[in-house]
Amino acid sequence: MRYPGGKNHVYQALINLIPEHDRWVEAFAGSAAVSRHLARRHAEAWVLELDQEQAARLRRELPGHRVLHADAFRFLREHAPSWGPETVVFVDPPYPLRDRRDGRRRYRHELTDAQHEELAELLHATRARVLVCGHPWGLYPRLYRSWHRHELAVVLRSGGPGVECVWTNYADPWPLHDYRYWGADKRVRQDLRRQVARHLARFGDMNRHVRTAVLRALTDAYSLGGDRRLDLDRQAASPAPARRRAPCTRAS
Ligand SMILES: C[S@@+](CC[C@H](N)C(=O)[O-])C[C@H]1O[C@@H](n2cnc3c(N)ncnc32)[C@H](O)[C@@H]1O
Repeated sequence: MRYPGGKNHVYQALINLIPEHDRWVEAFAGSAAVSRHLARRHAEAWVLELDQEQAARLRRELPGHRVLHADAFRFLREHAPSWGPETVVFVDPPYPLRDRRDGRRRYRHELTDAQHEELAELLHATRARVLVCGHPWGLYPRLYRSWHRHELAVVLRSGGPGVECVWTNYADPWPLHDYRYWGADKRVRQDLRRQVARHLARFGDMNRHVRTAVLRALTDAYSLGGDRRLDLDRQAASPAPARRRAPCTRAS
């Protein structure tokens, strides 16, 4: 059954905005569509849901996650001040009631405007990397106006085209935590998978000393920071450097 406000229709596009991290926190979990699909490459994954029944369901369905039946505000007030960029917080709260097309309540626990304001204060104060979902109209564009705004193309329940927004407090989600959904469409994703498989096969055929020497050289040149250094070297050497293309963030 589709969870109200669930992100099952856009989880690929959201995962393409998530940088590499050690600690993952999904603060208003609902059906936790993003946590369900995100690669488990992190050391810790916290999932918070205030609805008791839903939290119990998530506990059964998300092994390996620390699912808490908890108030996200309490948890964020306590922990967010000590987090740094090793933590990514994904926030998909109930949208403000006054900004809903039909104005209907959908959850046992909704947020007041004052709570949306408090949430924005907590998220602006943390050094963790944060993604917040919301409508492109109403309260959220104002609360997160200084952040980076990403638009996700969605199909509305009516069948027509729509847009959902995600605001991030960082510009360039690189390197990504999970590359399985990277690319504008299936063809690009398939091409990436093929390239990875081809390189793996080539490395598998190498003498182990040759493989280690090549890996070391690649790590020196392209590991985090090294890649940027190379870009700077190239810019210094060339009057018209090639620009790197940003990864696509559209829902497919
Ligand atoms: C928009 S839904 C999240 C949908 C989710 N992203 C998904 O993929 O299904 C918002 C959720 O926040 C929960 N919630 C409301 N207030 C909360 C609070 N103070 N702390 C934690 N969860 C809360 C609601 O019960 C609801 O399940």
